[in-house]
Amino acid sequence: MNYGHLDTLKRINIESPGSFNWIEIHPETQITSSDRESSKSIVWASADFETKLVIKSYSSIANGCNFFLGSNHDWKNITTYLFVGKRDSLKNLKSNGNIVVGHDVWIGYGATILSGVTIGDGAVVAGGSVVTKDVEPYSIVGGNPAKPISKRFSDEIIDLLIEVKWWNWPADLINQNMEVLSSTIVDEIKKIHDSLKQ
Ligand SMILES: CC(C)(COP(=O)(O)OP(=O)(O)OC[C@H]1O[C@@H](n2cnc3c(N)ncnc32)[C@H](O)[C@@H]1OP(=O)(O)O)[C@@H](O)C(=O)NCCC(=O)NCCS
Repeated sequence: MNYGHLDTLKRINIESPGSFNWIEIHPETQITSSDRESSKSIVWASADFETKLVIKSYSSIANGCNFFLGSNHDWKNITTYLFVGKRDSLKNLKSNGNIVVGHDVWIGYGATILSGVTIGDGAVVAGGSVVTKDVEPYSIVGGNPAKPISKRFSDEIIDLLIEVKWWNWPADLINQNMEVLSSTIVDEIKKIHDSLKQ
């Protein structure tokens, strides 16, 4: 592969990610579309195209988000300048690993997610945040660098929802219970979960 030019660095609009094997977006995830180029959500490939972006199901990604799988200039060298076109410049781009966005995650407008980060199921990333570290399930994080703002529910309810994993229910059951899932009636979710166990 010719790494001589930054053109080979892939910046892919995740609204239409195509069939790149380093982007895995599960069904039922909603990527907000945009007519404006500048507010599309983008994933930046790692130089080796092996580091992955995974976004699991029932997640919502607002406009203007950036997922940086690579694109870290190696600041340990004398210069961070890449001498594009004059040398194999992409070998100086580093990554901290895969980005994994869990199920039922909401990422607000203009958030940036850095390589190596896992965002737990049910979490919320506030608009404009820069997420540099893993995010706990069902927590809300915000700011630069993103820090916990609050939890979405009590620990007891979070434990229940982590056990229930409603996104694994049969699609029909999810569709029948959209109103309950879109409410705060946790008891009903528990009832359905218990009935599935029988
Ligand atoms: C995260 C969010 C949902 C929280 O909303 P909320 O529950 O109404 O929370 P509040 O506005 O009361 O803020 C709660 C705290 O979080 C902080 N906070 C809110 N948004 C923040 C942000 N983007 N970055 C950093 N901190 C933030 C507030 O300053 C406040 O801090 P405090 O408790 O120290 O005063 C909201 O701020 C947000 O970012 N929404 C994204 C909207 C968006 O992108 N929509 C796109 C359409 S899909």
